[in-house]
Amino acid sequence: LLLGGGATLAGGSLAGAAATLALSEPGPDTASVVTAEAKGAQVVPFYGNHQAGIATGAQAHARFLALDLKPGADRSHVQRLLRLLTDDAAKLTAGRAPLAGNDPEIPALPSRLTVTFGFGPGLFDAIGRGDHCPDVIRNLPAFATDRLEDRWSGGDVLLQVCSDDAVPLSYALRRLVRDSRDLASVRWCQTGFNPARDSEPAGTTPRNLMGQRDGTANPASDTEDFGATVWSDEPGWLRGGSMLVFRRIRMDVDTWDDLGRPAKEMATARKLSDGSPVTGGAEKDDPDTAAVDGQGFPVVAAEAHVVRATARTPTERMLRRGFSYDDGPDPDGKPDCGLLFAAYQKDAVASFVPVQKRLAESDAMNTWTTHVGSAAFAVPPGCTEGEYIGEALVG
Ligand code: HEM
Repeated sequence: LLLGGGATLAGGSLAGAAATLALSEPGPDTASVVTAEAKGAQVVPFYGNHQAGIATGAQAHARFLALDLKPGADRSHVQRLLRLLTDDAAKLTAGRAPLAGNDPEIPALPSRLTVTFGFGPGLFDAIGRGDHCPDVIRNLPAFATDRLEDRWSGGDVLLQVCSDDAVPLSYALRRLVRDSRDLASVRWCQTGFNPARDSEPAGTTPRNLMGQRDGTANPASDTEDFGATVWSDEPGWLRGGSMLVFRRIRMDVDTWDDLGRPAKEMATARKLSDGSPVTGGAEKDDPDTAAVDGQGFPVVAAEAHVVRATARTPTERMLRRGFSYDDGPDPDGKPDCGLLFAAYQKDAVASFVPVQKRLAESDAMNTWTTHVGSAAFAVPPGCTEGEYIGEALVG
């Protein structure tokens, strides 16, 4: 049974539940069902022109895991790894146990599980195709405000695993890692979350840990604009794929929480209540940067985050598919939380790099945010059954 724009019901055993399903709205991000017990059965198709987990409406839970290939890994090892992990991902996302898995109950309700693969420079070098690695993926520039730590940065292979349910997600990740153990080691693993699925009506922009609606200006997934922003149209192996810039951004929520609401809203030029501009209008409207108050002073600060981040050319646009993180307080009770910022775009040279350069030069939000991790990955296109992710590159 196909639900909306591509979510399907998993497993024959759940066929009964299918009979009780009804769609609330069409579209890949809004497929939802009326019966609570059936939601876990929703499947995002793994095979397709593009990898799942990018146009898919952000799930409630995510894990970003970076693998490093073992020393001496060559093309045949990478082939073996990607073949195996593609097969695992296809099965797990469909609600089935992976190879040699004998506990089908755990993955049976995948809750829109997606597994998305990204390739770092080390993978290209291992297969003898270092020249196929986009330069920006190998050499993402340093930015003035960076405070990067190795323990959150880099990686040869990225697995972005997302689901509305942390249980099938946990199982999927452990099986993927287990099947990669001979050929790769874990470099880092970062856990993120969004508001619970359906805690607000479908299509509502999620809140981050600063309380802001975050994602307002994103292109809608079913539009031409989305494709033009996200998918690579370069001839060659990356066509239909994308580029991911992943940043771990710590938030100083202690000082943020003490700030008055007007100052909080001035930092982005958007209201905390509903994400609408401080100059008035609806959430999707842009702030009016020409507006002045009674004394003739500008209402919107020149260094407001949205003013600095807004695309100044069409090619600067990106899809921000971030997740909050919260690793709990340290022994002194100081929070360790922030944003796992994940930006997908067809070419990071044209979008993330100039935008982040501007933000590093001046952004009111820099007082409360610090980039502590960074990794960039080429994201291959999707594949069809029988192929593996990255086959056009690895061969
Ligand atoms: C907009 C928060 C980091 C790029 C926004 C908005 C918020 C926000 C609340 C307004 C609503 C929206 O359109 O989503 C944050 C937080 C960050 C962060 C809390 C760090 C913890 C970044 C970074 C970049 C970025 C690192 C890119 C380099 C953008 C863009 C927009 C935006 C492109 C849309 C601007 C527009 O066209 O209106 N961000 N952001 N943000 N942010 Fe950020």
